[in-house]
Amino acid sequence: MTIIAPSLLSADFAKLKSECDEVMAAGADWLHFDVMDGNFVPNISFGIPVLKSLRKATDAFLDVHLMVDRPERYVAAFCDAGADLVSVHVEATQPQALSEAIDLIRAKGKKVGIVVKPKTPASVLLPYLDRVDLVLVMTVEPGFGGQKFMHDQLAKIEVLRAMLNELNPGCHIQVDGGVDAETAALVKKAGANVLVAGSAVFGASDRAAAIAALRNA
Ligand code: DX5
Ligand code: ZN
Repeated sequence: MTIIAPSLLSADFAKLKSECDEVMAAGADWLHFDVMDGNFVPNISFGIPVLKSLRKATDAFLDVHLMVDRPERYVAAFCDAGADLVSVHVEATQPQALSEAIDLIRAKGKKVGIVVKPKTPASVLLPYLDRVDLVLVMTVEPGFGGQKFMHDQLAKIEVLRAMLNELNPGCHIQVDGGVDAETAALVKKAGANVLVAGSAVFGASDRAAAIAALRNA
């Protein structure tokens, strides 16, 4: 089963609740919440207070992607603010702190994800694969919506699917960046089952059709 997670980075923030309600009614499964700190990535988006408000405004599953340095400082706060799943970048901190961040998210009763940027090899994730619910493979350099899908990441998805089949078969593989109906077919074939899409959903005149196209790709 494919899970479709529209990225709120491409939503109209002035009407965030209705944007969320609209994509959920249009068939989305999760809402993807991209947190950027201006350090780990060269852009700033939104954070804990916005998540807290959103939690009160929707029952949807909130998938929080932390693009912040040393995320161990903030994971508990994002869990308390209403995240259902919190993903941290393997490049964002030291291994010991990353391990502690994973344990903290788990201790809060939330799902845990781990993320790799395009230039980071899959092997770096090995120590964490049996401890997470989701692995996120970035298919653009994180920081901005609307970038071009990097085809060279397909091999990484295949490698990770094979590793997870051994170590943690129930673990999701999520893909984020440049996902549209065309690239969705490629990532699904490679082994991904959770698709994040910003422009392809929020930029579409018919969002239900866009979501269906991703699901059926
Ligand atoms: C990029 C973000 C993505 C982004 C995807 O740093 O993590 O979630 O919003 O946007 P599209 O689907 O437009 O590439
Ligand atoms: Zn994201």
